[in-house]
Amino acid sequence: MADRIVAGDLTQTDREQEAQLRPQNFSEFIGQNKVVDNIDLMVKSAVMRKAAMDHVLLSGPPGLGKTSLAMLISKALGSELHLVSGPAIEKKGDIAAVLTNLKPKDVLFIDEIHRMHITVEEILYSAMEDFRLDILIGQGASARTMQIDLAPFTLIGATTRSGLLSNPLRDRFMAHLNFDFYEPEQLAKILMNNAHKMNIILSEEAKTQIAKRSRGTPRIANRILRRVRDFALVNGSPKIESNEVKAALSLLDIDDLGLDSMDRKILNVMKNYYQGGPVGIDALSATLGEDKQTIEDVYEPYLLKEGLILRTPRGRVLSELALKHI
Ligand SMILES: Nc1ncnc2c1ncn2[C@@H]1O[C@H](COP(=O)(O)OP(=O)(O)OP(=O)(O)O)[C@@H](O)[C@H]1O
Ligand SMILES: [Mg+2]
Repeated sequence: MADRIVAGDLTQTDREQEAQLRPQNFSEFIGQNKVVDNIDLMVKSAVMRKAAMDHVLLSGPPGLGKTSLAMLISKALGSELHLVSGPAIEKKGDIAAVLTNLKPKDVLFIDEIHRMHITVEEILYSAMEDFRLDILIGQGASARTMQIDLAPFTLIGATTRSGLLSNPLRDRFMAHLNFDFYEPEQLAKILMNNAHKMNIILSEEAKTQIAKRSRGTPRIANRILRRVRDFALVNGSPKIESNEVKAALSLLDIDDLGLDSMDRKILNVMKNYYQGGPVGIDALSATLGEDKQTIEDVYEPYLLKEGLILRTPRGRVLSELALKHI
């Protein structure tokens, strides 16, 4: 199978290598200016008030920096970060344990918060609003609610699909910040910093090429950079030129527009099976044999952003540009 470098699915090694390249301070966190300006203000205000920062919801496609930003926020607040994954919390007791463990001003980061179980989510309502845990004890007529006070904390929710959040949960976040895909110039800056961290030298051209073909996503830029580094290492050349980049991109099956094999498969299926559309997401998912949510969260946002597919009330259609490309 071709080496998939989808932003969404991460192996253990990916995660370890990713940790090494995470921005360590706000000056290394490139781009997303609107998001960063908002966070900067909220952090400063919390520090001056000597209180917990307001709850914030971070949304956007995978690999754009939500987790990285949460780490920087807790660092700036000088507080401890507790990381949990929404769908992994299965019982009310699990979330209660997490919440009662928080110290004043700690940050609780819930990843994939749109995939949390509803019973678990309901516990969060009073926790977020009043820093209080309401727990129902017993059943029937003898049932009563017990209340436990929690330390004032900050909830940072991360989601690839803010539209799937329930209204009561969404309303409890004081700030909703949305991540955009990065411009090639911003990715070039990130690549420069990371090449330095990895002790490799990138030529101007090599840097520009990687930046252009990274789907606007730092995680993908970093993965291409690592592969390119492998080529340079094996060839014994310390400096990375466009030759190494070309070789790495072709090995990773990334084309001129930065599309990978799955992106192209989607476009091809739409053209060959559905005459360019309109086609609904369920039909597309069945034909591709790919999970509906993965298509919507991981692939579609970039294809839409680049104007390769368009959304109509009757489904997705291919654009002229896509037809030319495939
Ligand atoms: N603004 C940025 N500046 C520099 N590097 C970044 C930036 N954003 C992300 N990165 C790099 O991209 C990698 C992936 O980012 P991160 O894990 O924060 O994404 P995410 O939005 O949490 O993704 P997911 O939705 O899959 O959890 C990081 O390890 C980091 O190296
Ligand atoms: Mg993350």
